[in-house]
Amino acid sequence: ATLNEAFEGCFLVGTAMNRWFIMDEVPGVLDFASSQFNAVTAENAMKWGRINPSKGDYHFDISDALVDYAQANEMKVIGHTLVWHSQTPDWVFENWRGRPVDRDTLLARLENHMEKVAGRYSGRIHGWDVLNEAILDDGSWRDSPWRRILGEDYVATVFEMAHRIDPQAELYYNDYNMYLPGKRDAVVTMVKDLQARGVPIHGIGMQGHFGIGRPSMEDFTAALDAYGALGLKVMITEMDVTVLPWPDTLAVGADISAAAENRDELDPYTEGLPADIAEAQAEQYAAFFRELVARRDFVSRVTFWGVSDADNWKNNFPVRGRTDHPMLFDRYLQPKPAFDAVIAEAAPC
Ligand code: G3I
Repeated sequence: ATLNEAFEGCFLVGTAMNRWFIMDEVPGVLDFASSQFNAVTAENAMKWGRINPSKGDYHFDISDALVDYAQANEMKVIGHTLVWHSQTPDWVFENWRGRPVDRDTLLARLENHMEKVAGRYSGRIHGWDVLNEAILDDGSWRDSPWRRILGEDYVATVFEMAHRIDPQAELYYNDYNMYLPGKRDAVVTMVKDLQARGVPIHGIGMQGHFGIGRPSMEDFTAALDAYGALGLKVMITEMDVTVLPWPDTLAVGADISAAAENRDELDPYTEGLPADIAEAQAEQYAAFFRELVARRDFVSRVTFWGVSDADNWKNNFPVRGRTDHPMLFDRYLQPKPAFDAVIAEAAPC
């Protein structure tokens, strides 16, 4: 069975696709992806900085191709993402003197952006990651230009705006480390407040950048249940299970060549994934899927953040040029032990 067939009675199974895949520059990937997945997220192509890097300069070629591809293959399209502190060009927040714009100006720019992007694909998008990464791990608000300029109540504002522009799309809050209790409780509080005021929000995206043993099953299931209890759809939106060590000293953006003497320690599986690690990864994936399948009445989608171990963002995070093996398919699109382990969990579906 393929992933989409196996889980059909439970939830959607999606993938994220980058520019090379969408533009068909890597032979075979488009057909392979549509055979395994029934949902697709643009890994980067719908981000503000890609669509509209400078004022008045719009690039829709990749996102148009993605939406056409998905539609031709009956895959749901997930829009990613409308409001994010990252990958949004500085000009959005600044006036011609480089000073922060006022609230009305930023609201008008956001509305124009949503009309250009969400409006363009209105009716063809299954759901939008409306707001991405607004809360920190400890549960406090991220101090982003969005919040500074639009004000503390900006979350309601951006969800209402997105709903006005694409009333058919499901609207999601999406974030990483959503299993951490402090962050989880803050998200629950935020959503309850939105719901009490009738603000349209339909789902919670737990990104799912996981590792072997991380998160604990206790934290993972407590978070799933807390979000499910809100009456919303719950999704794993960006799943990967890294097999590489993540030493505290490994700073985001550090150059791996500077750590040459640590190379074996940082990048131990350049010759391939050892069988015992592949097995540990398979067990970890299976454990996550077991809990997701058990909650299929409110879990609506699981999306992998990539197609295979090749061209996967994890090979470049937090430092460039590592050889990670985070997906269900290897560099040659062959299923790994994790694939079989995940499929086995689909029995109740
Ligand atoms: O395409 C250029 C290439 O031409 C250039 O030579 C190279 C050198 O810097 O950069 C390439 O662009 C990179 C792009 O990924 C394509 O691989 C960007 O530098 C890099 O910043 C970008 O990273 C993306 C990251 O978001 C930042 O937008 C990752 O692909 C993407 O997987 C990642 O996805 C995020 C989600 O949107 C939100 N949640 C976390 C997740 C992982 O960080």
